[in-house]
Amino acid sequence: MKEVKKAVIPVAGFGTRFLPATKATPKEMMPIVDKPIIQYIVEEAVASGIETIIFVTGRHKRAIEDHFDYSPELEYSLMKSGKEEYVEIIRQISDMADFVFIRQKEQLGLGHAVLTAEPLVGDEPFAVLLGDELIINEEKPGISQLIEVYQKFGKSVLGTTEVSKEETNKYGIVDGNLIEEGIRLVNYLVEKPDPSEAPSTSAIIGRYILTPNIFESLKKTPFGKGGELQLTDALMNLRGKEAIYSKDIEGVRHDTGNKLGYIKAIIDFALEREDTRDFVKDLILQKADQLKGS
Ligand code: G1P
Repeated sequence: MKEVKKAVIPVAGFGTRFLPATKATPKEMMPIVDKPIIQYIVEEAVASGIETIIFVTGRHKRAIEDHFDYSPELEYSLMKSGKEEYVEIIRQISDMADFVFIRQKEQLGLGHAVLTAEPLVGDEPFAVLLGDELIINEEKPGISQLIEVYQKFGKSVLGTTEVSKEETNKYGIVDGNLIEEGIRLVNYLVEKPDPSEAPSTSAIIGRYILTPNIFESLKKTPFGKGGELQLTDALMNLRGKEAIYSKDIEGVRHDTGNKLGYIKAIIDFALEREDTRDFVKDLILQKADQLKGS
């Protein structure tokens, strides 16, 4: 069985929900405290054994390329001013993996973004990580949990979590038979169903291991919800030819694709970090007191 060594990360989206911040800066570069969201995603992949990161990019995304490249001028300037500790921090970002970039010339949906990566993926299984969701699990990074299931069955694996019935219209929803704790053999998939039509509340959360057969399936899949080529629809077609599994991902999940989730992620991370914890905790308590009084 071929190992999963490549990850596709689609980053071509406009980030409309964060305008005007995202007018000239990719949404993936927005920081959680002092680290851009995209770096957390890449670190999750690398900690799971991924060696090549394939970014599917668009116009105005050059900052992502620069972030994962060497920065000799910055390193030189940091050395000169005696800030060697930062040199190590910025150097290891570029040394983490091989980074390759391909442009998605038109934004025709997640399925189209994955299909754009085909020439770089070739004939091997690969991971897909979406940047809107951070999954924190120090012991077993999110995507590594799916790789484990892939190693057992040799077929595509979708990362899932339980959501409330009202939220089914925000996710790809999976119905399947539980075969082991947290692992299902998928029977049916549907993209963002209305709560009244959702077959279950098991939602895909932006982590996938896909066999290369997904590419043929994507090519045969008609445009679906929102006039986009949906990865969920292509998976439903693939399901007719080979088994697909889903795995409930264990870890703390942050939805950083919307303002409220983003603010919450920053507070949660700041409360975890030694250098910011006490300040932020005191600030929150102080604000809570003020709010009670008002
Ligand atoms: C995409 C997928 C959807 C999945 C979601 C996870 O939707 O199409 O199936 O559940 O990511 O975040 P998007 O949120 O990009 O609209």
